[in-house]
Amino acid sequence: MTEATIQLHVVDLAGETRTIDGAIGTSLMEIIRSSGIDDIPAYCGGCCSCASCHVHVDADFAAVLPPMSQDEDDLLDGSEHRAAGSRLSCQIPASAALSGIRLTIAPQQE
Ligand code: FES
Repeated sequence: MTEATIQLHVVDLAGETRTIDGAIGTSLMEIIRSSGIDDIPAYCGGCCSCASCHVHVDADFAAVLPPMSQDEDDLLDGSEHRAAGSRLSCQIPASAALSGIRLTIAPQQE
């Protein structure tokens, strides 16, 4: 049986769009890292405490993203790169509703 996957379109820090696949249920951070894109350090390993997995999600997908926790919101508030579509990619599990999602990796904090 083939594992259910979705496709992501990821704009890396060089501005290059990469199309990658990832398993449903896996966080977007884990999918991006396991695809070989090394622009997300994920210092905390995905436990919502470092903000190094910050991405900007295209507005088209805003309505299907899971709600943001207070912790995620607080961490993003500390980023000079926060924008309307800002999310921490470790806090978003891949789901069928996110198939074709387009996101841009945010620059790391200085
Ligand atoms: S990997 Fe640290 S907050 Fe997402």
